Order: sequence, then structure tokens, then C-alpha cells
Amino acid sequence: MISVHRIFSHKQNKRGDVSVKSIHQEALTLGVCYYPEHWKESLWREDLQRMKAYGLTVIRIAEFAWNKFEPEEGVYTFEFFDRFMQVALEEQMQVIFCTPTATPPAWLSEKYPEILNADLDGTLYRHGMRRHYNYNSPVYRRFCAGIVEKLAAHYCPYPNVIGWQIDNELNCEKDVFYSESDHLAFRTYLKEKYKTLDNLNECLGTVFWNQTYSDWNQIFLPRPTYQNSANPHLALEERKFISHSVIEFADLQAQIIRRYAPKGQYITTNGLFGHVDYDELVERSLDFIMYDSYPLFGFERKDQPPKKDDLKDRNWSWNLTRARAISPNFGIMEQQSGAGGWVSGIATPMPKPGQIRLWTMQSIAHGADYIGYFRWRTSWIGTEIYWHGWNDYSNQPNRRLEELKGIHHDVAAIERLAGAKYQARVAVLKDYPNEWDGDTDQWSAQVNRLSDKGWFEAAQLTHTPCDFLYLNETVTLQALCQYDLLVYPHAVILTECTANLLRRYVKQGGTLILGCRTGYKDEYGRCPMRPMPGFAADLCGVEVTDYTYLSPYDEMEQADWNGSMIEAPLFNDILEAHGSTAKAEAVYRGNYYDGKPALVSNKIGRGTAYYYGAAFSRQTAEAFLHKLQFAAPYQGILELPEDCELAVRQKDGTNYYFVLNYKEHEARISVKKRMTNLLTDEQITGPYELAPYGVLVLKESLA
Ligand code: GAL
Repeated sequence: MISVHRIFSHKQNKRGDVSVKSIHQEALTLGVCYYPEHWKESLWREDLQRMKAYGLTVIRIAEFAWNKFEPEEGVYTFEFFDRFMQVALEEQMQVIFCTPTATPPAWLSEKYPEILNADLDGTLYRHGMRRHYNYNSPVYRRFCAGIVEKLAAHYCPYPNVIGWQIDNELNCEKDVFYSESDHLAFRTYLKEKYKTLDNLNECLGTVFWNQTYSDWNQIFLPRPTYQNSANPHLALEERKFISHSVIEFADLQAQIIRRYAPKGQYITTNGLFGHVDYDELVERSLDFIMYDSYPLFGFERKDQPPKKDDLKDRNWSWNLTRARAISPNFGIMEQQSGAGGWVSGIATPMPKPGQIRLWTMQSIAHGADYIGYFRWRTSWIGTEIYWHGWNDYSNQPNRRLEELKGIHHDVAAIERLAGAKYQARVAVLKDYPNEWDGDTDQWSAQVNRLSDKGWFEAAQLTHTPCDFLYLNETVTLQALCQYDLLVYPHAVILTECTANLLRRYVKQGGTLILGCRTGYKDEYGRCPMRPMPGFAADLCGVEVTDYTYLSPYDEMEQADWNGSMIEAPLFNDILEAHGSTAKAEAVYRGNYYDGKPALVSNKIGRGTAYYYGAAFSRQTAEAFLHKLQFAAPYQGILELPEDCELAVRQKDGTNYYFVLNYKEHEARISVKKRMTNLLTDEQITGPYELAPYGVLVLKESLA
């Protein structure tokens, strides 16, 4: 029996009444993705030994290797991976075993084409890439259940298997599905939800353009139509149905694995993609989420022109914030370790010296306690021959491997931070129905994109740590009350229940900011006849009396907030304050509504709700953070230039400050309280020059 450093996870915590599912480790851990099937067996042992020398103690394997286990229908063999696992056992390498369902074997795709996904037209995506299957084919589910059962029964007993990854990146590459099985399953899903056709017709507004259904068999997922302008209410149901399908598919596998997995083996999946409610997925089937972090996608892709003022790789902190919203402590299953490239056109440069270390620390700063790199060695075959791992094709020493030595040292120096919680007093509220409705709502899609970026960048640049909080019916007042400021930029769909929850949050002392387009739709995406902004009207003491999308010919609108001009971009709700506690705080300047209220505040109990009539650019969001005094909560301890990110994790009453310099030049910072840089063990106080791509992890000194 080898002694492994067990990772386990369970519902270990409570955030309000909502269970929190986090990775739980004793120490920060490093690992790597490995593909035994790509390499000569004679290389295996040497590879594992070299990994260990670099501090990589976990490997993830088998996610695309179905054929190695079931080379023919119903014929199972474990010989190949048993030989590999024997070496892994001898080398005391811990293993995350994957279910290989992202790549069905050729014999399966060819014999049962019904397992394939299809485009809107119904044309099947053929064998040859990956993720070409659909979630709803009963045949595919049967084959998946078969292979997962065999693998779980065979590999769960291995003492070095620490966890399971289900599939690979659910909904990556394609997040819409139009196979025959999907159309049929959609009907069943709608029947269960709406019970009667009359109800469905009413809720989905099918009377418009004569779409009324008189038989369930007339209902399909969207199919090609003129301009592909499907019924938006049906399109919203489609997104919900896709998420439901993903969750059912993952749950089928998770339930099988749980029957075999000994206590301590976790179940997870990797990546965050469209049309999946990750809270529901994790709550129902997983122990926590793992994210795949490729910051070079943030910039320098050959298919993306350079953007001015773009935060580039720092943008990845947005994705990490999203992962943290699902699992406060999560893992990175794939952390970029080299240049990216696919034969189909994706291409990114080689990370510059120091950047892989920086990105590793970026993930850790945001709450990742496990970092697995993609991949050990650059593939010498296939679509991803340009996608680089730590080792080049040559397998010779290189400067990235030198960097890995340093990362190993750094992570070892802070390994006890595992379990430390990211600290934020500000959160941006999100929810899946609005995210998915935004696929077809042209106005809200645009304002959301701008405001998402605006708030993220404002929080980053003002050094105001910020969380995301996804609202659903299980989120409690207690969960909201962890934050002093909540921003819900464009809750186009806002139910009475959510509005009541927000009111209670404000009443107990919270500050809430809502933006344009709030509350004009119901849960089906219809626009009911009522004063705007619907259920936010009372909450914010406001009525929207007129509104307009700003055409590209309009000047950027401004609002005058006690003499400071703030941007009021993209869309303007023209407001009127209602009630004795409401007050117009800012007025529009320009356009036909010059002088009319743009911002209304409403005092409720000990808190204040704000309704801003526009979207939030970076400048607007920064103005809100400064004016309402939520910006830079740690400025008494650390003074940083905009170029550096600040993240704070806390454990056992001690704060750990991560300072990350994303720039290729030095950053001048000022440390106002004597602290220890855990990476070097030096005491720091006063002015400090942080190296290009440099990182500090400062522990608040008790002295
Ligand atoms: C991820 C995927 C990996 C690999 C990597 C680089 O999305 O999970 O299998 O493809 O990207 O392209």
C-alpha cells in the first residue's frame, strides 16, 4: 500500500443554507495531464520519475482513451492501462482517472450514428474530432454506462486513484445539440414541465406568428428558419434543456462511480462552458469543480487583433472568479504550460519567462488548491501537435522546465494555504436564466457584455476583491449578507421572489446597484404589462418613463453625479424617483432627455438600493466604487499600481496578500505594514520593486 496524500471532498461547509462544495486538501498540490497511449511504454517510468523530481505528484489520465478499454463493442480489456497503473503505483504517483466519453470510438460512431450530434440542419457531426456525440441518445447513454461501470469497478480499488473526472469539458466546442434524440428528449422535457399543450402555448407565447402547437409531436428544438429567428421563449427553454441534458448525462456517470469509489475518491469535471448550470451540476453530482486555465487565450491569438487597454491574461481572473463561485476552493485540471496551437487555426505564442509561474499563482490567488498542468509533453501527433506541454518534442531540458523548478519551490513555500478562503466584500450577482435569455436578447446581450467587463476591470484596477454569486432559489439572505455591496447589472428577468430577497438584503444594511433593462421580462422571457422596472420598481423607488438604445450615431451619453461626469453607455432608461425615501442622484447630460434622472437611490432600513439607467463601462463602475467608498479596501496595507492584481486569501485568522504583476516591466509598490514574503522568507516594508511578471505572497506579520 503506497502512502498517498489523500485529497477528499464532501459537503464540508455552509454558505448560508447552501452547501458549499470545495476541494479539500491538506496542502497545495501540483500535477500534470499525461497520455500513456501517446508514448512508448519504455518512456513511462522515466516520465513519472522526472515529474516527481519537478514536484508533480498527480497525473490525470485516460479521458480520450476509450478504444484502449473497449476496442470492439462489448469486448473490454484493461491490459494496457493496468501496465501503466502498475508503473504509476510503483512510482507512487497519484492518479485522477477519467471517463473517456468525450471521444466515442470509431466502431461506435459508425455502427450507431444516432449517438452523433447534429447541426441545426440535422447534418451529423461525423467521427474524427471530439465531443461529436449527443447527451440524449439512449444508445450512447447505454454504452457510456457500460464503459464507466467497467472502469469504476476495475480502477476504483487502486490505492493511488484519488479522484475521477467525468468526460472532458462538457459543452466545449459545441454547446447546442440538434440530433433526433435531442428533439425527442426536448418534447419529453417540455411535457414534464408544462403538462398540457395549452399551458405550454400560453407560457411560450406561441400565438405570435401562428406557432400554436396542437400536438406534442409538432414541437422541435429550433430548426432552420428564415434568419434562424426562433421563438425566443422556446430558445430560452432550449438552453434550460441543454443544461438539464448535460446534468443528467454527468449524473448517470457519477452515480455509477459512487457505487465503486471508496471514501476519499472524489468526482469532478473540468472547464466552464456555455449552457450549463454549474451550481446544479455540482450540487447534484460532483464534489467540486475543476477549471481549465489558458490565459494566453486572453491575448495574442492570431485570430484576434490587439485591443487597446485590454487586460489580456489578467482577464483570466474573471474565469477564476466564476470557478470560485461554484467551489470556493477548486482545482485547475489544465493550467497552460506552453504555446497553444491546433491544426484548425488556433495559435498563441510561447509564454514569456515568468508567465507560467505568474498564471499558476493567479489560479492559487483565486482559490485553486490543486494545479494540474496541460500537458507533460507536447504531442507529436494529431490535431494538437502545436499545443505545448512542459516538454518539447525533443524531450530535452528547456527554460520552461527550469521555471517549473521555481514554481515547485514557490508552491511548497505556501502549501499550507490550502483551504484558505478568498476575501471579498463586493459581489456581482449573476443567474443562468438571464445569461441564456441574453443569447437572443440583443439589447441585454450588449449591455451585459459591457457591464460584465466594466465591473470586472473596475474591481481589478481599483484593487477591490470581488466575487460572483449566482442566484437561484436556494440562495439565502445569509449568503447575500456576506457582502457589503451587491451589483446585479442587468437582471432583465427578475422574479418577485428575488426582488423580495434583495429588499431584505438592503434593509439589513446592504448596498445594491441595479442597471438598465432590469425587471422587464418574466421567467419565460415575456414582457408583461406593468410599470418598468417590474419588481425592481418598489425596491429602487423608481419608474422607467422612457428608454432608448443608443445608436452608433449618438454621442456617448454622460450622467452628472454631483458634479462628476460618469459614462452612461449603450442604453438609457430615463427615470423618475417615486416615494419619500427615493432621491434622484444624477441626471443625464445630452440627448432629448437632458436633465432627467439617470440614477435614483432608495433608502430601505439600514441600506440603500441604486438604480442606474445605463450600462456600466469601466469608468462608470470605477466611479460607483469610489463614490460609494467600496474601492481599495486594503489601501492602508498595500499601495499598488493599476498593473498589479491584488487578491487576498484568509485562513486561521491570517491574511495572505497575493500581488501579481502582469507587466513585462517592474512595478513599484508600497508595503505599509511589515510583512513576510512567503516565497523568499524576507520581511518587506516600504517601497518595493516587483519584478516583471513577479509575484509576492505576503503574510501579515503578527509582530
Ligand atoms: C482543453 C482540453 C484539452 C486540450 C486543451 C488544449 O480545452 O480539455 O484536451 O485540448 O484544451 O487545446
